Amino acid sequence: MAILPILEVPDPRLKTISQPVTVFDAELKQLVEDMFETMYAAPGIGLAAIQVGVPKRVLVIDLQEPEEEDGEPVRDPRIFINPEILDPSEELASYNEGCLSVPDQFAEVERPATIHARWQDTDGGTHEEDMDGLLATCLQHEMDHLEGILFIDHLSRLKRQMVLKKLQKERKLKGVAA
Ligand code: NI
Repeated sequence: MAILPILEVPDPRLKTISQPVTVFDAELKQLVEDMFETMYAAPGIGLAAIQVGVPKRVLVIDLQEPEEEDGEPVRDPRIFINPEILDPSEELASYNEGCLSVPDQFAEVERPATIHARWQDTDGGTHEEDMDGLLATCLQHEMDHLEGILFIDHLSRLKRQMVLKKLQKERKLKGVAA
């Protein structure tokens, strides 16, 4: 297992369109393991392969939601290879989203509230599930990465510039502190 470096804006590789996985081998399983380790260490709840520089349609998600309010986070690792969304609802849900590639920045993004998702596992088996809530939002956010889209691309130009400026300022401050 290895913690991989996470690409951050404005790295142009984040705009890559990721390619479908066609070979379900040990290398794929290794990539998924490394992605989980990287995501947990960050820490984050979702990661797309392109965020660690691998342009393949591979996502890992773990919402780590506690069983009861204020309880300990419970791990529930989910792997999505070649994911597709079918039947997105017209009803939208708004979440204050963040992204490991846009560190420490958050903004409200609206997306379909419920989706039907189809994906493959690391052995190539196909799965389908109806999703809502944070899982539906997170999967859509991660799937955007496969098309080279970041959550800030859903914002108005003005709002996006504000987020990027704030990120730049915080990076400078961190540089001074270090
Ligand atoms: Ni992201």
